[in-house]
Amino acid sequence: MAVLVTGGAGYIGSHMVWALCDAGEEVVVIDRLSTGFRWAVAPEARFYEGDIADRELLQRIFAENRIDAIIHFAGSIIVPESVADPLSYYENNTAKSRALIAAAVEAKVPHFVFSSTAAVYGTPDTADPVEETAPLRPESPYGASKLMTEIMLRDTALAHDFTYTALRYFNVAGADPRGRTGQSTKGATHLIKVAAEAVLGKRQGMDVFGTDYPTPDGTCIRDYIHVSDLANAHLKALERMRAGGGSIVANCGYGRGFSVLEVLNRVKEVAGVDFPVRISGRRPGDAVSIVANPAVAMQELNWQPKHDDLAFIVRTALDWEDHLARRNQI
Ligand code: UFG
Repeated sequence: MAVLVTGGAGYIGSHMVWALCDAGEEVVVIDRLSTGFRWAVAPEARFYEGDIADRELLQRIFAENRIDAIIHFAGSIIVPESVADPLSYYENNTAKSRALIAAAVEAKVPHFVFSSTAAVYGTPDTADPVEETAPLRPESPYGASKLMTEIMLRDTALAHDFTYTALRYFNVAGADPRGRTGQSTKGATHLIKVAAEAVLGKRQGMDVFGTDYPTPDGTCIRDYIHVSDLANAHLKALERMRAGGGSIVANCGYGRGFSVLEVLNRVKEVAGVDFPVRISGRRPGDAVSIVANPAVAMQELNWQPKHDDLAFIVRTALDWEDHLARRNQI
């Protein structure tokens, strides 16, 4: 059987495709290449260029391949952009996911793994690591658009022969330790990526968005998870559903947080390079502090993180940035 990866030419998707190939799976990718790159897709995978809401294309993909699972990454991912342009997030993340889920049900694809996000929680009531049962109060259209998809999946699983795993990602960073893929998106906004660009001199320093938050150093706290550990959680989810496991929602993070300033200091330390940091105002849609409780992923999915080390995450991100600079793919 084959696995269909949507958004397989993107950052996390391209790591997933490599992880599936490494595990001996047959892999099919659909990506419209709006932010991803064809060259980022492992050569073993079968590639279809197009949109996940293109029903005819999906029917063709299901007819041409024996797909028993979909891993759904395709979507828009930038919190402040979603605040500025909410309807495009409800279109790309919610409406198009609905079309994909409908096509999956029609084609009787039994398993589905969904890229959800910690943004569904908003800012939790306490500083404790957040559990899946915490209140769901997204603070951005991005978080809301993903939560709506989780709700569609829940209801679809109740009505049809269909199981899903929604993985709520915390802050994904780093790159394939073997250097085969990484975060290549142009105009990236994610903290470690932006800092890596500053190290390489691709940008003149960077901004810290807000130093007046109620945290020890005033900057926001996040749980940074290495992208390969995240890809591995999807493999475990797939394995579990294929073995008959039911639908489940699981956090993907390590359970410890770093502030923005801590991350930037670590980047400078690992790189051995200093770069200018400007203190700017708060960025719209940012939650103050959010850290995962990963117990469900560890117990139910049998997930074992291997790269729970901020310096390693940063090192792999820097190595990839360096690789991009050398191949002139900035
Ligand atoms: N930040 C800066 N300067 C930058 C970039 C980011 O100070 O140049 C700060 C942000 O304001 C925020 C923190 O770094 O406080 C992390 O920001 P990112 O943009 O790296 O990530 P987000 O936390 O906004 O969002 C990410 C994912 C979401 C996910 C969320 C969960 O994009 O999918 O983490 O916490 F939901």
